[in-house]
Amino acid sequence: MGGARSFSYMPGPRPLPLLGNSWRFALNRKPWRTRALDVTLWSLRALAGAGGAAKVAKLFGHPDLVFPFCAEETARVYRREDAMPHRAVAPCLRHYKQELRKDFFGDEPGLIGVHGEVWWRFRSRVTKHVVAPEAARASVPELDAVTTEFVHRMEGLIDEKRELPKDFQTELYKWALECVGAWALGTRLGCLNEDDAAAKEIIRCIHGFFHSVPELELSAPLWRLYPTPAYNTYVEALDAFRSLCLNRLTDKGVCAKIAQTSGEKVAAILALDLLLVGVDTTAAAAASTFYLLAKNGRVQNRLHKELDKNLPQDRVLTSKDLDRLPYLRACIKEALRIKPVILGNGRCLQSDTVISGYQVPKGSHIVFPHYIMSNEERYFPSPASYVPERWLKDHVDQQAGGRGACPYSQGKEAEENEVGAGAHARAVWLRQRETGIHPFASLPFGFGRRMCIGKRFAETELQLLLARTFHRYIVSWQHDDLTYSVTPTYIPNEPLQFTLQPRR
Ligand code: HEM
Repeated sequence: MGGARSFSYMPGPRPLPLLGNSWRFALNRKPWRTRALDVTLWSLRALAGAGGAAKVAKLFGHPDLVFPFCAEETARVYRREDAMPHRAVAPCLRHYKQELRKDFFGDEPGLIGVHGEVWWRFRSRVTKHVVAPEAARASVPELDAVTTEFVHRMEGLIDEKRELPKDFQTELYKWALECVGAWALGTRLGCLNEDDAAAKEIIRCIHGFFHSVPELELSAPLWRLYPTPAYNTYVEALDAFRSLCLNRLTDKGVCAKIAQTSGEKVAAILALDLLLVGVDTTAAAAASTFYLLAKNGRVQNRLHKELDKNLPQDRVLTSKDLDRLPYLRACIKEALRIKPVILGNGRCLQSDTVISGYQVPKGSHIVFPHYIMSNEERYFPSPASYVPERWLKDHVDQQAGGRGACPYSQGKEAEENEVGAGAHARAVWLRQRETGIHPFASLPFGFGRRMCIGKRFAETELQLLLARTFHRYIVSWQHDDLTYSVTPTYIPNEPLQFTLQPRR
């Protein structure tokens, strides 16, 4: 720690005597609003200045928060984390698993809201089956069937102006839920079918769950004092999901393999975790990618071309078909860069550490603000521009048959009559190539031993949804720009009324 400055010198909002910094969030005024943490993060970024880190100290009942706004520091801290990284989120889920329903979960509470030895044991048991590339690849035909059904359903939801309904976000939840059910439990939950009574109940619970989470996780924790309505809804939903996972486990799906090796209870607990964090995240990513594609004709055109060339007609897709869609993958990466679903990933420091030249004490919570870094000019030139080509260096090299060739050298943009957008994208691509992409500047799925266990699966389902939708439709956006809130996922506030015009 020699040479490092004391933690007290790290910039941050000044705490008041007795009230600390909690009063700022209690007043709920910008930039200190839990639903607008994007604004909070930008303001902390400004405070951090060239030093590169800021803190929010003295929050009631909460360790000090430290924000390193630097990809290099992020890499250093992540890389030295120990075997059992501690990510402090979901206090209400922790309460549910380890207090309220302790009798059921016992010493196998799963992954979310769980730490230390107990987390490590569970993750070691399940990782192999869930993270293996084959786990996602093998499920492509099944997920394609769900997604094709969903795209047909979308056609039925479109109004006379060819706009999707105001509650399209809920429709995305249903699609994501159905995908997780098919993948994890090996069964169809029926969420895309209006007449299925059991599915209606699941949808009611998922609605209740996602509406109660923001209040329980982001507002003052009154539920610790008495059972608030949001708390009751939350517990009812979790109880229902728990029974669902126990009752609908089949001999197919990822969890079936875990049932064989570790027993049905472990499999059901894993399924519950996958269901709880695998629905709103993917639905939010789908919404943002739809939106960015709808607003960027040039990118959508290029995607249409890739899909027309490589997507087979009239048969179920396999993982090999998805391998032939690199531009689609870049579209998703670029969307998660501009609008990451989780704005900042957290770790609780297990030992005293120097961060950005300050001595940060053990127990502090580090929040890696990926959202800020992935939207900063120094890491991503013209950060607000949606240019999937940034991610395509290798692919471009191969396609163009020489290192450093530019994806626009064929004059494609002129053909598409989008010369201006093409020229800008080309300039961004060149500047990005000069800057390079720091591997820790955009980490939408986190990093290391606690990294998202559903990453490959999420990418697969997103690829399928976007491939199927954009192959069939031109998607446009006819409304004012969307605004976003933290719920805790980063999702649009306004209804997702995309316009869908058939392509042929
Ligand atoms: C685009 C969609 C998704 C995004 C952006 C996302 C992002 C994340 C992030 C940032 C973390 C924390 C990682 C860390 O601490 O380093 C995480 C953890 C996790 N994710 Fe995802 N996720 C997505 C989809 C999914 C899906 C579809 C599933 C399951 C079906 C899933 C299951 C999990 C689980 C179980 C954890 C906890 C892992 C642990 O603590 O050991 N996620 N996710």
